[in-house]
Amino acid sequence: MSLSPFQTRLLAWYQHYQRLLPWRTTKDPYAILVSEVMLQQTQVERVAPKYLEFLARFPTLEALARATPAEVIRAWRPLGYNLRAVRLHLLAVEVVQRRQGVLPQDPTALRLLKGIGPYTAAAVACFAFGQDLPVIDTNVRRVLGRLFHGVAQVKERDLQATAREVLPTDQSAAWNQALMDLGATLCTSQRPHCPLCPVSGDCKAAPLFLQGEGRVAEAPEQYRAAPPPFKGSRRYYRGRIVDHLRTLDPGATVDLLALGQALLPDFQAQDLPWLDELLERLAQEGLVRLHRSSPQDGLPQAVGLPE
Ligand code: ADE
Repeated sequence: MSLSPFQTRLLAWYQHYQRLLPWRTTKDPYAILVSEVMLQQTQVERVAPKYLEFLARFPTLEALARATPAEVIRAWRPLGYNLRAVRLHLLAVEVVQRRQGVLPQDPTALRLLKGIGPYTAAAVACFAFGQDLPVIDTNVRRVLGRLFHGVAQVKERDLQATAREVLPTDQSAAWNQALMDLGATLCTSQRPHCPLCPVSGDCKAAPLFLQGEGRVAEAPEQYRAAPPPFKGSRRYYRGRIVDHLRTLDPGATVDLLALGQALLPDFQAQDLPWLDELLERLAQEGLVRLHRSSPQDGLPQAVGLPE
C-alpha cells in the first residue's frame, strides 16, 4: 500500500533524526524483549548501558534461564522495579522448558507467557518479527492523541482504532519508533515544539499549542500531574532492601534488625513488623528469600537474595 503524505513526512523525519539506540540494531527477539522490559519503567538514557551489560552477561534466553534469580537481581542494578528481573528470569525458564527456548512470533501466543502483557507482546512481535501492529507506549499515546484527537482526553478504544488506521503496512517497526521518538523529542508533554514538527500541519492540537506560551501552559491536566512521592514510599523501601541484599556476598544473609538499621538509622525492634510485611511480600514475589529456623516461627531470622 502506498504511503499518505502524512506517513511519508513522519517516516522521512525518522530516517533523518532517529535516536541511535542499541536495541534498534538487532532483530533478536530475546534482546528486544530485554530492552522492552527495561524500557517499561526506566528512561532510555538509563536503559541503554544496562541493556548492553545485561546482554553481555546473559547473551541468550538459555543463558538467562540457567542463572539463579539472585544473579539476575544483582545484574539488574541499578534499574529498579526489580520485580521485572524476577519475572524476566521466570519467563526465560518457562520458554526454555516449554518452548525449546524459542519465543513465539504471534502476539496472542506471546501474551500466553507469564509476564508478557499486551504492550510487550506487540513490541516483540513488531520489532523482532516485523508484524504490522501498533506499539502504544506513553509517548505514542500522547502523539497520536494530539495528532488525531486534539487536546481532549481520548478513550483508549478510540486511540487503539486510530493507531491501527494510521499504521503503514510493512513499515510498522520504523513507524512505531518514529512516533516514540517524536514524543520523546518534539511532541513532549509539557512544551511541544510544534514549529519543528514534521506533521504539525496534520495535527489537531498544534494550532492550540502554536497560539503561544499561555496555551502550552494550559496543556491538559493529565500531562501535568506531579510525580508521586518516592522517598518514603513502599516502592522506595522495597528498592532499598533489594539494594542492600545485593551488596552481600553470594549466599550471605542479614538479620532483620541489621537490615532495618541499614534502611533507617533510628530503626528499632518495634519497627520489625513493618519490615516483615515488606519482606513477606518481596519473598512471595521471588525477590528475596526469608530464613527461619522452623516454619512455624513468626518473624524470619534473616534474609538474603534467592540464590
Ligand atoms: N520505549 C519502548 N520501546 C522503545 C523503543 N524501541 N525505542 C525507544 N523507546 C522505547
